[in-house]
Amino acid sequence: MKIGIIVYSQTGNTLSVAEKLEEKLTAAGHPAEIEQVTVAGGRKSGERAFQLKTRPDVSEYEALVFGAAVEAFSLSPVMMNYLTGISSLQGKQVACLVTQFFPYPWMGGNRAIRQMRKLCKSKGATLSGSGVVNWVGYRRAKTTARAIDRLIQSLA
Ligand SMILES: Cc1cc2nc3c(=O)[nH]c(=O)nc-3n(C[C@H](O)[C@H](O)[C@H](O)COP(=O)(O)O)c2cc1C
Repeated sequence: MKIGIIVYSQTGNTLSVAEKLEEKLTAAGHPAEIEQVTVAGGRKSGERAFQLKTRPDVSEYEALVFGAAVEAFSLSPVMMNYLTGISSLQGKQVACLVTQFFPYPWMGGNRAIRQMRKLCKSKGATLSGSGVVNWVGYRRAKTTARAIDRLIQSLA
């Protein structure tokens, strides 16, 4: 099963979790590949007017992990825009990952995951697990390890 890890990461946090996930999935015998959603001309912090430059094609993957940041207690509008533009996730197993600064998932992470799952479900995805990473220093290592374990278990 080929797994696509599709990430929008403005400052590299979500991408770094995605890289660890890719490494662990591959080591566990599930070939995975990261592709990034990018914005034309870059994007100022929190900017809501943007055009996508790169929209990774999901058609070749049987399973997917979508990853992005929490912005203003919601899913990053860039990931929202990208997911909205996908024509179908029918027949695909989909897991969701978000990273956020604040220490607990109820501080935006859970809401962002709900938004992501709702969008993916509306495209026909078979929903799998999800993970929230809390980037604040004292929670980062623990929540990263836990999110990665959850995502791998749900996709394996
Ligand atoms: C505009 C903006 C809004 C944010 N809002 C939140 C928030 O509501 N809750 C939170 O915990 N973190 C918030 N953050 C922090 C990011 O979610 C966090 O730094 C994330 O790990 C960034 O991921 P990235 O490096 O992959 O872009 C916000 C960051 C930005 C730039």
